[in-house]
Amino acid sequence: MSVGHAETVAAWRDVLGLCRLQSDETVAILTKREANPRNIEAAKHAVTDLGAQYFCLEPHIGRTSLFDTTPAMDALRSVDLVIDFLGIHLLRGGEQEALAQAGTRVLYAVEPPETLIRLMPTIEDKRRVKAAEACLKGASTMAATSDAGTDLTVSLGEYPILCEYGFSDEPGHWDHWGAGFIATWPNEGSARGTVVIDRGDIIFPFKDYVQSPIRLTIEKGYIRDIAGDFDADFLREYMRQFKDDEAYAVSHLGWGLQPRAQWTALGLLDKAQTNGNDGRAFYGNFMFSTGPNTDAGGRRDTRCHMDIPMRRCSVSVDGRPMTVKGEVVAEGQKA
Ligand SMILES: [Fe+2]
Repeated sequence: MSVGHAETVAAWRDVLGLCRLQSDETVAILTKREANPRNIEAAKHAVTDLGAQYFCLEPHIGRTSLFDTTPAMDALRSVDLVIDFLGIHLLRGGEQEALAQAGTRVLYAVEPPETLIRLMPTIEDKRRVKAAEACLKGASTMAATSDAGTDLTVSLGEYPILCEYGFSDEPGHWDHWGAGFIATWPNEGSARGTVVIDRGDIIFPFKDYVQSPIRLTIEKGYIRDIAGDFDADFLREYMRQFKDDEAYAVSHLGWGLQPRAQWTALGLLDKAQTNGNDGRAFYGNFMFSTGPNTDAGGRRDTRCHMDIPMRRCSVSVDGRPMTVKGEVVAEGQKA
């Protein structure tokens, strides 16, 4: 169902309120040509309604990266909040880290207004994600199992924790409207066991539901074998094309905590219309991923990155259950 301008502006006012936008603050609206014009118009309107100032920045990223375009980076560092329709985290040039260090709040929004409104974040979302963060702080192991055959263990402690709760209310915090999950990265070389991507699990960037199980054998932090039927073939061939051994590393791991995100949403939307946020954040999923860990301060930089949210897994941290068969069970994280 399509929503109108007034409803979209109201949603933007609400989310900017959660981002604690004050009338004496300045916002940079970072755009690109393909960004959703309904969101851009509504964001401008909402910032004005709240009495704050804004300017728009649409960088041309050619031979020079945004990071190396000093006047643009100075402008972004100088504002209180960046509304990001461009996706600075996808540029991987150091832009995201630079804004974090400058204390700039960043809110990334990419889904169409209808999805953003359905996934409107709440203070409760933050509370649940922070409760999950508390479980990961200082933890030394994470494990995931499933009836389909997943049995994965990793060691923790070398890398930071990634908290996404849908709005950016603290200096230097980056967030993503529609998100709601917790993740961290395994210690180098520590991931071991088996991951069975089962029928109905989702593979990004394919934005597709798996139809036949894929069995991954993982040793010393890397996928060593990909077995199964058509879906395994497809995944194996896609990854092989990067000609990069680092593509096979295990990357961020975590679980979904957004109860309004829908496992089925991806089946209803045109692939080009969505970043698949529902699929990434749906409540109780085990998020398995592969490839880089530069986001976490690691040195593994590969262009092959797969996000694979899986259903019906049981995730535990230091032996304490977080989810059981896809249901969130940990105290403080239940919706
Ligand atoms: Fe990812």
